[in-house]
Amino acid sequence: MEDRLKNIEVELQNFVSDTKDSLEAFRLRFISKKGQIAQLFEEFKQMSGEEKKKVGKALNELKRSAESKFKELQEQLDSQGYGSNVDIDLSLPPVTDAIGNLHPLNLTRYKIIQIFERLGFNVSDGPEIEDDWHNFSALNFPDNHPAREMQDTFFIEKNPDMLLRTHTSNVQIRLMQKQKPPIRSIMPGRVYRNEAISARAHCFFHQVEGLYVDKNVSFADLKQTLYHFAKEMYGKDIKIRFRPSFFPFTEPSAEIDISCLICQGDGCAVCKHSGWVEIAGSGMVHPNVLKNCGIDPEEYTGFAFGMGIERVTQLRYRVNDLRLYSENDIRFLKQFKPVI
Ligand code: DAH
Repeated sequence: MEDRLKNIEVELQNFVSDTKDSLEAFRLRFISKKGQIAQLFEEFKQMSGEEKKKVGKALNELKRSAESKFKELQEQLDSQGYGSNVDIDLSLPPVTDAIGNLHPLNLTRYKIIQIFERLGFNVSDGPEIEDDWHNFSALNFPDNHPAREMQDTFFIEKNPDMLLRTHTSNVQIRLMQKQKPPIRSIMPGRVYRNEAISARAHCFFHQVEGLYVDKNVSFADLKQTLYHFAKEMYGKDIKIRFRPSFFPFTEPSAEIDISCLICQGDGCAVCKHSGWVEIAGSGMVHPNVLKNCGIDPEEYTGFAFGMGIERVTQLRYRVNDLRLYSENDIRFLKQFKPVI
């Protein structure tokens, strides 16, 4: 009996268990009512008093030793995360971490920034919750002027002077107020308009404003800068045209169209069968705007432009519905590989 006790002790101490199944095998073999130690206790009952004295203590010790070993193995298993209720199939292929990619609007924003940085523009930022003066009045929109209706606005009820900015042009004002020319900056950001959501319009979208103020800045500089931008963004075969337009904050003003990349100019729904798509508004900064910011219009001139990032992205990647940008659908988002 004593030899058997020793052998079982060695066997259970050397037992290696790293699965739920082998732990159960340990329990059955040593601890259960039909296990080896229970068997020894059965035999113990039959022994004479003399024999019992010899092995009683060792037998109890073996029982305790088996129980503590079982506990130890169980804790080991739990700490490995294979808790008793979890079955892990180690033969399955691993689940790898998915590597995300940048949102198409960010890819385009970074590309726009890169193009203008090479021309010596820096990047500025401004608030999305803005006061009336920076969003409208300073930009030469008189109070109650119908030009304000071009941009259907979210006003804040508690304070009618505050609104969600309708364009990034507020940042022009903030920049000119705090910095004297020369100023050469682009200003990307989110803007808001009270529009019904459809494939072509949303209650928020993104713009990049551009501003260049210095001595002798002319309309020719504006044209060359934006022509260069279009070629860098869409390739050297792109066509660009300036269409006379009206903005209160520029004089003269122009809309900038590029040849439609969806139909190559043949006419389609995106270009409304004209072969041209509008990507930006632009013009020479109105003297009143310079004055409002403390810059002398006799000394300085400037050009400005504002383009829609959604529109630029639509033509870049042929996206036909604006809503896709904010639906967060992974099937859409995972298609965009950086082309910076
Ligand atoms: N702020 C205009 C808009 O949202 C776009 C724009 C036009 C910006 C002409 C400019 C500009 O800076 O010069 O419709």
